[in-house]
Amino acid sequence: MAMGTGPRISFVEIQSSKDDGRRRDAKLNHSFFGWLGLRPIFAQHTSTEHEAIRNAAAMRRTLVEIGVAEGASAIALRETMAPDGRLFLIDPYHLSRVRFLNTLRRTAQRAVRQCKRGNVVWIERFSHEVAPSWKDAIDLLLIDGAHHEQAVWRDWNDWSKFVRPGGVVIFHDARLFEGGWTNPEDGPVRVVDALFRNSRLPGWHIIQEADSVVVVERQA
Ligand SMILES: C[S@@+](CC[C@H](N)C(=O)[O-])C[C@H]1O[C@@H](n2cnc3c(N)ncnc32)[C@H](O)[C@@H]1O
Repeated sequence: MAMGTGPRISFVEIQSSKDDGRRRDAKLNHSFFGWLGLRPIFAQHTSTEHEAIRNAAAMRRTLVEIGVAEGASAIALRETMAPDGRLFLIDPYHLSRVRFLNTLRRTAQRAVRQCKRGNVVWIERFSHEVAPSWKDAIDLLLIDGAHHEQAVWRDWNDWSKFVRPGGVVIFHDARLFEGGWTNPEDGPVRVVDALFRNSRLPGWHIIQEADSVVVVERQA
């Protein structure tokens, strides 16, 4: 893995432009090249965040990710989850200009397939379409889909009720940090501030913060 200039922490080749601000090769930016394997997949998080996601996922059995993109965080989850666990990946992949090709989705599927741990279930829909019929208790929920405040509130309200005691929710882009890209007005920052910093939501508490990632646990 080449994730920024950091140490090799995954066997899937991943590149993070968030780590060191390196410019990607513009010619290969399109996910078409990721699908063909001509470039690493692009992570939208830092290697520090990648490690935090891996740690939070360790031996968890039912995991849900909202917002998959090229699959970098899905790989972090898959690498450490319980070998008999299930990882549900929710993303509508609605922005593709050539719908039948949808190279972003294909790039993600190709990348996530390279890790064989656990079982992966792809759900190609918006998170709010999936929530009403959801039944399973969740051990880990990663919220990284639509980022405007209303959407983050909706994901929290729709999905956090399924997280079992002792389970965790990971918010991405939810914290200001030195040299980072987040702002106080960003949806995830505002929601995490409202829930956990400006007040204390009963039954939940922050257990880890790493760059823009905030991990909260539902108390057992
Ligand atoms: C920031 S990217 C996810 C990055 C990814 N987690 C990673 O670390 O590489 C956001 C993704 O959320 C998806 N998305 C947008 N709205 C969504 C929704 N309502 N439900 C699920 N996914 C959504 C987009 O299609 C996009 O792929």
